[in-house]
Amino acid sequence: MTTTPSTSKTVTSDHPGKGYTAPGLSQEAAGRVIELLQDRLNACTDLHLTLKHIHWNVVGPHFIAVHEMLDPQVEAVRGFADALAERIATMGGSPCGTPGALVAQRGWDEYAVGRASTQEHLRALDHVYVGVITSYREGITELEELDPVTQDMFIEHTEQLELFHWFVRAHLEDSSGRLDS
Ligand SMILES: [Fe+2]
Repeated sequence: MTTTPSTSKTVTSDHPGKGYTAPGLSQEAAGRVIELLQDRLNACTDLHLTLKHIHWNVVGPHFIAVHEMLDPQVEAVRGFADALAERIATMGGSPCGTPGALVAQRGWDEYAVGRASTQEHLRALDHVYVGVITSYREGITELEELDPVTQDMFIEHTEQLELFHWFVRAHLEDSSGRLDS
């Protein structure tokens, strides 16, 4: 008699899901994929809130350019957060979207700049994007073997984030391509 593990309802202790995941994926693999998705969900929620904070607090020359540049980034990153959360649920997990849990789980510092010039905010935002994109790329590498479907989502998000990062860096760049950091 053959067994059919792909239809098992068993939930392992390291995967507190609803008792299912994507067909063909082990519960163990799904548990790790969900961890990676939750970390990116935390990063994207943090990022779209930080982008609005900058939108509200930026002052000085080029105010309107930076102020208006940020809203499309907020909308896109909110969309990423929604996609990541729904992917967690799709895989049988429970996405956590509350602010206190985000702060408790995140491995990076709170954005520290209040009312400040466009250049000061853009330098700080450059560092934020470096951190977020680096973590996405680490996730892409780990997902190569684990789950190519989730990897595809990470690649799509990274392409957009790298474009937004260039928009930020273009304000900090001189004509030789050197960054003012
Ligand atoms: Fe606004």
